[in-house]
Amino acid sequence: MPRFSPTILGTAEPAIPAARAWAARYRGQHGPALDLTQAAPGYPPHPELLARLAEAAGSRAAAAYGPIAGDPALREALAEDIAVFYGAGVAATQVTITAGCNLAFAMAMKVVASPGDNLLVPTPWYFNHQMALRMSGMEARPLPCRAEDRFVPDPELAATLIDARTRAILLVTPNNPTGAVCPPGVIHAFAELARRRGIWLILDETYRDFLTEAECPPHALFQDHGWPDVLVHLYSFSKAYCIPGHRLGAIVAGEEFQRQVGKAVDTLQICPARAGQQAAAWAIPALRDWRAGNRAVMAARAAACRAALNEGWTDAMGSYFAYLRLPDGAPDAMAAAEFLAAEKGLLCLPGPFFGPGQERHLRLAFANAEAERLAELPARLAGLAP
Ligand SMILES: Cc1ncc(COP(=O)(O)O)c(C=O)c1O
Repeated sequence: MPRFSPTILGTAEPAIPAARAWAARYRGQHGPALDLTQAAPGYPPHPELLARLAEAAGSRAAAAYGPIAGDPALREALAEDIAVFYGAGVAATQVTITAGCNLAFAMAMKVVASPGDNLLVPTPWYFNHQMALRMSGMEARPLPCRAEDRFVPDPELAATLIDARTRAILLVTPNNPTGAVCPPGVIHAFAELARRRGIWLILDETYRDFLTEAECPPHALFQDHGWPDVLVHLYSFSKAYCIPGHRLGAIVAGEEFQRQVGKAVDTLQICPARAGQQAAAWAIPALRDWRAGNRAVMAARAAACRAALNEGWTDAMGSYFAYLRLPDGAPDAMAAAEFLAAEKGLLCLPGPFFGPGQERHLRLAFANAEAERLAELPARLAGLAP
């Protein structure tokens, strides 16, 4: 048999199916399974968005290839949305639309790094980031974050980990899996560090729409005219608009970066899928209030999760995720997650999926479930610890 490449063989298996497979053994003794594995809002997309998607999908225009960087209407709408959110202008020419934020990251990596290079990635990390790097022969170099620091990464520690092969620092804020929010001051310190060391700062802000300005104050990086020399911002339409199946994300970066990433986009996706783009261009301004309303839904879910969980267990809680620390006496995370899925019908992800040093943690994507169902958590978690 021909060989498989060592880089793909060295890449982890997809995390979510692995966790869901344990639940195949659940016999329903504690009621219907509660699936808190994947980060996908449990409520539906706005009905008018669905209607527009259907209409666009049936059109001849959406069946044709489109511009490599995405349809101008969506690029303009996202640029305006950024201006509203961050209080700073970004040009539509600084936006590329991608087939989701995962691909945005993978394609941005083609621009910033080569095989053998490394990126500093705070741990716990989002597993697909590490997988994308591994698959491309690049190293995700752990930048350990501590519960005592609310899982906010430390720029001073980062400075000590940079070497001649470091090409970028990656921050995910609000974070997956901890939900932690990086305060603007810390983001600015990382931007400063990246600028000083001549590397990129990649900011994945997939979850930015789920917190209020008070909870997650926008950074001011776009207000600095020099931002294109250091910053690459990644965005996802999957969560905020509840359309992960339509695969829409974005890379916001300077024009030269866009010119380079255009090569990757042309090669890997040719153009983003058209129907979703048409509908999303309408949705960005039209659904601003709906998005704001969803913040209240998420806040209610977070409150329900907080009320249900034992304080001692919760190491971090933010937008979307609770990151639990297993109590003394409980098995390690892999065994605990398997037990919860197979015996208690509670599906969550074990810490080791999120990088080194996470053996005592579980991630619960509480935002997937309605507040009433989160009240089931104590009963489901019972029996894990003596
Ligand atoms: C931090 C982060 N980035 C990117 C993604 C992927 O988003 P998309 O569906 O747009 O590819 C996720 C999904 O869970 C995520 O948590």
